[in-house]
Amino acid sequence: MASALAAMSGYLMLPEGRGPTPARAHTNAVTFPPLEKLEHYTTVRRGVTREHMLTSRAALDAIKADQAVPTGTHVVLVDYQSDVLHRYLVAQKMGNGIDDWQYQWFRPDRSIKADENTAQCYACHQRSRRDRQFMFTFTDALSFK
Ligand code: HEC
Repeated sequence: MASALAAMSGYLMLPEGRGPTPARAHTNAVTFPPLEKLEHYTTVRRGVTREHMLTSRAALDAIKADQAVPTGTHVVLVDYQSDVLHRYLVAQKMGNGIDDWQYQWFRPDRSIKADENTAQCYACHQRSRRDRQFMFTFTDALSFK
């Protein structure tokens, strides 16, 4: 058992990425966001897809002040396909460091999609948006009143 665990954690130590090794879906600490407390700061539409982007007022204030969002912040993409809720994609700030983000995919019933490799979420967001709090919709958050 111990050796199996050791082999597994060895497997999880991916070499690439500047930040802490992003955990796979079933091991990470991202919590389901308190949706009713978050601000809907922008919407992205593409064909039948509609994405509502949400985060906290405190995070929006930090972004405007050119500061890191508070530890614990959730950034949420609520994905609708043809007006039907499809999934919640969630980014959560886990510490003070610029790279301290983790990602999770929640189904409409709020259960975790356990076979998702969230290292891919992390890698794409870090690669393109490391200097903008890992956010593709950073400019929308900045201009939201
Ligand atoms: C190949 C690049 C890529 C991957 C992989 C990716 N994303 Fe994103 N993500 C984007 C882009 C681009 C947007 C902007 C919205 C859009 O264009 O649909 C976005 C938007 C988001 C947002 C809204 C905040 C923001 O950054 O604008 C969240 C939350 C999010 N993604 C979470 C996730 C999660 C969770 C996963 C993995 C299950 C994931 N992403 C995988 C590119 C990616």
